[in-house]
Amino acid sequence: MLIDADAERVLRDNWREGIRHDGIEYAYTCPSPRRYKHQWYWDSCFHAIAWSRVDLARARAELETLMRAGQPDGFIPHTTFWGRPAVWRRAPFYATERWRGCEATASIQTPLLAFAWEIVAAASASAAASPSAEGPAPTALAGLRAHHDWLAHHRDPDDDGLLTILLPDESGLDDSPKYDPVYGRLSHYRPGYFWLVDRCRRLRWDSRAIIAATDEHVEDVLVNVAYALSGHALARLLGHADGAAYARRADATVAALLERCWDERRGLFFDLAGRRERRVEVSTWSALAPLALGEAVPEEIRRRLVEEHLLDPRRFGAAYGIPSVSMDEPAFNPEWDRFKTWRGPSWVNTAWLLVPALADLGYRDEAERIVGALTTAAGRTGLREYYHPHTGAGLGARDFAWSTLLVDLRARVPPRSAAPA
Ligand code: GLC
Repeated sequence: MLIDADAERVLRDNWREGIRHDGIEYAYTCPSPRRYKHQWYWDSCFHAIAWSRVDLARARAELETLMRAGQPDGFIPHTTFWGRPAVWRRAPFYATERWRGCEATASIQTPLLAFAWEIVAAASASAAASPSAEGPAPTALAGLRAHHDWLAHHRDPDDDGLLTILLPDESGLDDSPKYDPVYGRLSHYRPGYFWLVDRCRRLRWDSRAIIAATDEHVEDVLVNVAYALSGHALARLLGHADGAAYARRADATVAALLERCWDERRGLFFDLAGRRERRVEVSTWSALAPLALGEAVPEEIRRRLVEEHLLDPRRFGAAYGIPSVSMDEPAFNPEWDRFKTWRGPSWVNTAWLLVPALADLGYRDEAERIVGALTTAAGRTGLREYYHPHTGAGLGARDFAWSTLLVDLRARVPPRSAAPA
C-alpha cells in the first residue's frame, strides 16, 4: 500500500537523535523537516502511536525523550529545542521563560502522554517483545504520576476537575476561532500574543497566580478530553491500588465536562473562559472531542454529537476529513492561511481521535467513508499538515509526521471489503 510506504519514509526521514550539550540523549520525530524542527509534546504522542506499527523501540524512545525534556516536578514542555536552538527569527513565537537561551518552552500542550504510552505498551505486548519491554519502565511510570500531579496542582487550582490553558496554543489548536472571543487582540495570530507571553514571563509562569489575576485563560474541552483519556490510561498502567487516585481524577474530569461544558440545547461541548467561566459557543471539532471518551459519555449524547453535527453536511460532514471548524461558522475558512491554522481544514489527528468512536457507535459506513476520503487525499498530495475539506488538496507543511496516523486509523477502521471473509 502506497500510504504505508510513504508513512514509513516520513517517520524515518523526520527522525532526529543526538546528545545535547549537557549530555542528555534525545531521539524524536520532528513534525516536518523544513517547518517544524523541534520536539512538540502532542505531536510526539501521535508519532509514538504511529511508530508503534513500524518500530517499537523508536516509539518508546520518542516518549522517553519527551519525559526527559521535563522537570523533576512533573512539568513537561510544549516544545523542546534539543540540538537546534530556536533561531532568532522564530524565537519570539515560543513561550519560553526568558527571551533567550532556553532549552524548551514554559508552556504545556494537550496532555496525551499516558494515553500514548498505553497504546505503545499494548503494541509491545502483542508483538510478544520481551516482557520487560512491554510497559513504561518504573521510572517512566513515576514520571507520568508526577506529570499528572503537576497538571492537577498547577492547572486545576479551583479543583473542579478541569485543566486550564493560559495560552491558546497550549491546546495545540493555536488559532482556532473559539479563542477569538477570549484572547481578542492577544490571539495567537495577532501581535498582542507576544504581550500575552510576556505577561506570563513577568508573572514567572506561576499558573495559579495567572489564573487568579487575569481573564485570558480557558478550561478547554479538547485538553480535558486528553487529560481524562490519559488519566484513565495511567490508572490502568499503574494497576488497581496505585491507579485508583488517577482513575477518580479522570472520572471527575469527565463528570465536569458533562456537567459544565455540555450544552443540552446546542448538543455540543463548549470551553469555559476566564474567571467567570463563561461558555464560548463556537462550533469547532473540539466541541465533538468527548466522543473519543467512548462509553464514559452517555450514548444519547454521543449520538447527538454524531447526528446533529459530525455527519451533518452543512456542519462537519465534509467531503474530506473532519473540518476543524463547523462549515456553517462565520469564521470557517477551508483554505491555507499563512498566519492562521485550525480555522477550517481537516487534520488527520482529528479523524484518528473521532472516527474509531464513530465506528464503535455503529456508524460504520460513515467511518469508512471518512478514512477512505483521507486516504485518497493523502495518496494524491502526500502526507501534509492538513487537507482542504471540500477538495482534499494537501495544505500546510509537507511530510507532516502525525499524518502517518492514517496507517493506524486504517488498521482500526479497516475497509470491510478488504477484510478476510
Ligand atoms: C502547529 C500546530 C500544533 C503542532 C505544531 C507542530 O503549531 O498548530 O498543534 O503541535 O504545529 O506540529
